[in-house]
Amino acid sequence: MRIDVLTLFPEMFDGPMNSSMMWKARDRGLLTFEAHDIRHGSIDRHRTVDDTPYGGGGGMVLRVDVLDRAVRAVIGDDTPPVIYLSPQGRLLSHDVARELAQHDRLVLLCGHYEGIDERAHDLFITDEISIGDYVLTGGELAAMVVIDAVMRHVPGLLGADGAHERDSHADGLLEGPQYTRPAEYKGLSVPTVLQQGNHAEVAAWRRRQQLRRTWDSRPDLLYKAQLSESDRYNLGTLADEDARAIRTSRT
Ligand code: ADE
Repeated sequence: MRIDVLTLFPEMFDGPMNSSMMWKARDRGLLTFEAHDIRHGSIDRHRTVDDTPYGGGGGMVLRVDVLDRAVRAVIGDDTPPVIYLSPQGRLLSHDVARELAQHDRLVLLCGHYEGIDERAHDLFITDEISIGDYVLTGGELAAMVVIDAVMRHVPGLLGADGAHERDSHADGLLEGPQYTRPAEYKGLSVPTVLQQGNHAEVAAWRRRQQLRRTWDSRPDLLYKAQLSESDRYNLGTLADEDARAIRTSRT
């Protein structure tokens, strides 16, 4: 996979793209990454990239001609998805990350200031992605989040043990709790079922924990999750447990 980022602050990517899994991905040849300075698209003496908005209002808007030159210099005759990071985009999710990972090349465009000239969408932007319903000061951190989430789906980066298939959201549910040694710490024990190691019982326990977490933290996900008959039965018992806990706390 090749990922090019266009940004006013290429140096922001130095740390994250040279550490941990992103470094590993590059080292293994699974990821070719380059951060390009949008300023290279500016042709005036002062390297201007933005201007005041037509119609007034505060702030500065990134110029379409500067962005167009910067993007064309990176993509040449290629036609990769050109993704603009913005709070107005479609929301990043596990499925969106997996979809993006199917491409062999992505171009990510990071905005700043009040945004970019709308004509960039008509000319070269093919997709727009938000990482959540809040506003960041620029698209760089969002681009890093997208790159990380996408790279998890590129074959060969994560272990072959299917761990990423057990990730939160992989099947529409949150991931359950994990434990490792020591079996007991400060009076807190690893659940007995995990220590005993009966595979069927461990699998049933894990599934129930996933349902419990999702029910507690993100019940909205349950509407879309792939649930079996036994999942539905278990959810019913979780609801009964909660109802009992509420009743006892009142008495
Ligand atoms: N740029 C500013 N805010 C953003 C967000 N929430 N997601 C993606 N890009 C952004």
